[in-house]
Formats: sequence, C-alpha cells, structure tokens
Amino acid sequence: MPTNDQPRPIVIFDTTLRDGEQSPGCSMNLEEKLEVAQALVDLGVDVIEAGFPIASPGDFEAVREIARTVRGSTICGLARCNEKDIDRVWEALRDAPDARIHVFLATSAIHREFKLRMGKEEIIQRAIEGVKRAKGYCDNIEFSPEDAARTEPDFLCSVVEAAIDAGATTVNIPDTVGYATPSHFAGVIKNLINRVPNIDRAVISVHCHDDLGLAVANSLAAVENGAGQIECTINGIGERAGNCSLEEVVMAMRTRNDHYHTTTKIHTPRLVPTSRLLSNITGLVVQRNKAIVGRNAFAHEAGIHQDGMLKERTTYEIMRPEDVGFTQTDLVLGKHSGRAALSDRAKALGYHITSEQLQQVFDEFKKLADKKKEVYDADIAALIEKRMTVAGDQWQLVAYEVHATGRAEPTVSVTLKRGDDEQSRTVTGGDGPLDALFRAIEEITGTSVVVRDFRVHSVTRGKDAQGESTIEVEHQGRVYRGRGVSTDTVEAATLAFLNAVNRAAGGGGQSVSGERPDMV
Ligand code: KIV
Ligand code: ZN
Repeated sequence: MPTNDQPRPIVIFDTTLRDGEQSPGCSMNLEEKLEVAQALVDLGVDVIEAGFPIASPGDFEAVREIARTVRGSTICGLARCNEKDIDRVWEALRDAPDARIHVFLATSAIHREFKLRMGKEEIIQRAIEGVKRAKGYCDNIEFSPEDAARTEPDFLCSVVEAAIDAGATTVNIPDTVGYATPSHFAGVIKNLINRVPNIDRAVISVHCHDDLGLAVANSLAAVENGAGQIECTINGIGERAGNCSLEEVVMAMRTRNDHYHTTTKIHTPRLVPTSRLLSNITGLVVQRNKAIVGRNAFAHEAGIHQDGMLKERTTYEIMRPEDVGFTQTDLVLGKHSGRAALSDRAKALGYHITSEQLQQVFDEFKKLADKKKEVYDADIAALIEKRMTVAGDQWQLVAYEVHATGRAEPTVSVTLKRGDDEQSRTVTGGDGPLDALFRAIEEITGTSVVVRDFRVHSVTRGKDAQGESTIEVEHQGRVYRGRGVSTDTVEAATLAFLNAVNRAAGGGGQSVSGERPDMV
C-alpha cells in the first residue's frame, strides 16, 4: 500500500441505531433514537445507519425523522436486495441532504443453500439489480455480501466486482457470525484488493461481530490491509455478542497512530458521554472494566501502579482519561444552582433538550437537590432520561400506595393515566409488594408480561442516592427493557416496570430467540 506522510482517513460508520438496536431489549422509541442520532453527530461519526425501514412502521418512522431533522452526518438506511425494501428505504431517506442506501444479500454457501436457496449466478444477478435500483435513487450506495467472511474467496471477488460495476461506492465485508480471526480477515481484505480489478472505485468497509471477542481486532487487521471504513456501535452493542465497539477501535487507532497511521473525525472527549447516554437510554449497563468507557478503565488499584503514576503518569497510562471524556470530578450542582448551570451540564453530558424540557427537568432537579445534598452528573442524566421515557410512554404513573406489614399479604393501589383516561386498581396478595404493583399495572394496561430480569442499583454513591431499576420483560415472544429512577427504590421499580409494559404494548421489541426473521 502506498504510504505518504498524511495519515489515512478512516470513515466511521455507526450502526448503533440499526444493528445495535437489534440486540434483545435494546429497542428505543423515536425520541430516544433522535437523541442518539444527535449525539452521534456531536461525536463526529461520518455515517449513521438509522434503521431498516421495511422491518416495521416504527423503524421506517425513525429513519424518516432522522433523515428529516439530523444534520452533520450521512444518514443511511438498510434494505435487502429487493425492490420493495429499496423503494421503502428511499421513501424514508429522501429528505436527507446526504443519504446512503445500504443493500445486502447473503453470499456464503450456507446462506445460499439453506436461507436463500439460490445459486451463485442468481446471487450475482440479484446483487446487480439491487445496486442498480438503489443507484436510481441516490449516488451513495453501499453493498454488503452478508456472511462474507465465510464466503468462498473467488465467489466473493466476483460479487464485489459486479456490485462495484453496478454502482456501489462502498463495499462492506461483514463477518456476520463473528467467525473470523485477525489474520484470516486480513487475508480476505488483501485478496479483494489484489484480485478485484475495479476495487479502486469503491471504499472497502468492514462489519465485524464479536462472537469470539475479536470484532475490534478483526476490524483493525482489515484497516492495516487497506479497509477505509469501519462499521461499529457505541458500547459494542448489537446482535448476540455485539458489534465492533466504536470507542475501542477509534482509541486503538488514535493511541497507536505510530502503527496504524490513520485518522478519524471522532471527537474523542465525546466518547464517555455518548456511551453513558446510550446506556441510560437502553438500560444496558456498561461493564465496569470495559475498555475506554468502563468506570474502572482508568482506575489504578495496585500500590505499585499508583506509585508509578504519581512519579510519571505514562508509566502505567497509555491514554489520558480526559481524552475520552472522563472528567476529574462529577460533583457539579447543588440546590442553589440555576437553570443555566443545569442546561450547561445537560449539554456537556450529551443531551439536547428543549427549553420546555429544561424547565421540567429543573423542577425535578430542585426537588432532588432538597432531598440530596450533592447532585452528580449521573443524577442529572437520570432526571433527563426520566423525562424522555415518560414523554415517550403511553401510561404514566399518577400515584401508588403500598401497605405491607410483616407477614400479612401486601395490598397496593396504583393509579395510571393515559391522556384523559385515569384508572386505579387495588391488588392484594402475591409475592410481595412489587409483585402486587406489577399485577395492578398489568390489569390497568391490559398487557401481561413475564419478568426475565430485574435489578436495582444506586445511580451515585451515598445513602441518599437515587435508585435505578432496570427490568427486562417478555411479551408475545419479544423482549423489552424498562428503566426507572427515584430516590425511592419501590417507585424506581414501579416506573421501570411501567416503562417496559408501555414498550411492550407499543410492540417492536426484539425476538427472544435472537432470530432476525425480518432479515431473511
Ligand atoms: O452482520 C451483518 O452481516 C449485517 C449486514 C446487514 C451488514 O448486519
Ligand atoms: Zn451485523
């Protein structure tokens, strides 16, 4: 590969809102998707894959709204290689000033034989037709031979060549099942560069899944061998074990620039705020020891390390916490802080809120500051998120009461409101007060669910900390996650359950088995 002094620009294609949202329990409502899309623009991603419009009316609506309102990144939508999908994706994307259509078709022998029941020639024909149809709508076309990492190398070359000839400007090489290893995947990319005659007319992209924990390593191996675009997600969320993590791959290239000699447009101090925003929205907690954005990523415990750090930081630190967006202290506001300070903090945390939302959050903040002496960033994020989930939900909690004494059966009353419809139920018995509260909510909403996972943890430190509850429920074979925050943990759990039930009633969750029936 030619080398010169300029680092090679790598396109960062974020698929948090498409592949990421496909992971069980990660579904987001429209408002949440818009919030994430704006945060991705602020982060500096080149391309935002906003969804798969044919998959559901909700997906269509989200892609259309993002295309209409989000500015600063290319907006991309996914389609299978057929007319209906492609026409629909364009209907959703047409208002974006800078749009990309992403069409995909499986190419590996296993997928050809068992999923598509198509021969090689038919696949090539279908790929050409799909790319050409998409090209009729816009210039910027990405083509993905799904399961490319397990596709016969000769056939992969033929499909890629045909797609480029038909007009693809980016050819994306997915390791759909996370099967590749770094040297194998490097070979796949090298082979394409050496053998596809028109390869210089397209950007080579890679899309690696993390089933063997190798998604970042495989993506980096591909970059070393000429790939010019990486597909990734915030916190690495995605199908099964997830996708290549944006923060890890970007920081690997940045920190080891001596080795990769590449550059991206990512504004790295936005990495932690964006990671937290997504985690707050989805309820999917980032593991403490997660590289780059985990709470412990920069915590030095061993005495020998602390000693070294005090003498010279670089003895044990290869990146500075502030480079990825960790701040020295997150204690920011108290009860005398004003609206401007809250607004500043909200912006620094990655939220874009209207003045009406700011007023609502400010009112809640004042109540919280009365209860808690110290209000941390995480508290502020929780208040903002609470506003967003409530705004997107149908049924809202008006009041609840719990009578539970010793061994006597608990009695609870719940009042919910949806528009003008206000309803109350009293339930006695069950497995404790929470069980009774959940049953009362199910009765009012008419939506029954099975709880798969339920957690409560404190948002910040201290006995007066707000409790955050996350809950995962199953409804009609689909998984939904809910989240609630309050200084009262029973209220937090009730809000989380109601949030999950509202999502379940709205539909669109991910299938329990993790299958992608709509991707076949
Ligand atoms: O994993 C995969 O193959 C995909 C394609 C649609 C790019 O997500
Ligand atoms: Zn994928």
